[in-house]
Amino acid sequence: MLNKANTKLTLTSWFFDPHYQEPGIAEPGHHQFQIRTATSADLTGIAQIIAESFHSKDGFWGWAFPLLRLGIYEDFKHRLSSPAPHHVCLVAIETTSTANNLIGTVELGVRFADSWIQVGRSFPYLSNLAVHPKYRRYGVASELLISCQQVSQEWGFQDLYLHVLENNYQARQLYFKLGYKVHQVESNWNTFLLGRSRQILLHKHLNADSTT
Ligand SMILES: CC(C)(COP(=O)(O)OP(=O)(O)OC[C@H]1O[C@@H](n2cnc3c(N)ncnc32)[C@H](O)[C@@H]1OP(=O)(O)O)[C@@H](O)C(=O)NCCC(=O)NCCS
Repeated sequence: MLNKANTKLTLTSWFFDPHYQEPGIAEPGHHQFQIRTATSADLTGIAQIIAESFHSKDGFWGWAFPLLRLGIYEDFKHRLSSPAPHHVCLVAIETTSTANNLIGTVELGVRFADSWIQVGRSFPYLSNLAVHPKYRRYGVASELLISCQQVSQEWGFQDLYLHVLENNYQARQLYFKLGYKVHQVESNWNTFLLGRSRQILLHKHLNADSTT
């Protein structure tokens, strides 16, 4: 069980199998992972996965990689150590080996009235979803998302929002598969002047049973 800011999420185990059906059923040769809230002991693993997933170690800017990773580490350290009523960072831990490797992470918080949402309302907003490259396509991100949906409902919300870049094909496929719909396509001066990818705001209305 995990507990932070009245968040109750049952610690559940899944087994690495692209065609997994039911949690908790082990099959020979498959690995097992669990999802739980992050602690300060997870900071190094979280920073590594986020840095590797969103920044390149190679090329001209490769030298900046350790600095970016340090910045991510410090950001998360600050957020984990300052209790906010509606904020949680979840991690997926591989439990097959005794090493208990951190293989994925996601953050969930609440944002207040923004241009894309009706003024005066607040909404759960998901960010920093990343899975270690070696453990992708095993359902880890899907389970992290489903856990976030359950937490959002425990907080009393029926909607969940997140941004994805238009050129992030794999993430878009993931979100569409889990039922997220385009709420708004956002362009800014970066899009026009620097040819950067547009951001898409996705939305999911959470059903009573948010296990998908
Ligand atoms: C996007 C990401 C989180 C997906 O993690 P994952 O654990 O591999 O995702 P899942 O195994 O749960 O995938 C579920 C579904 O998403 C889609 N999907 C995931 N990766 C895909 C890919 N590379 N190509 C096409 N579809 C993909 C598929 O529909 C997949 O279902 P399937 O395996 O039955 O076909 C991972 O690739 C990642 O960390 N990318 C870098 C960081 C990032 O882009 N984060 C999202 C920011 S918005």
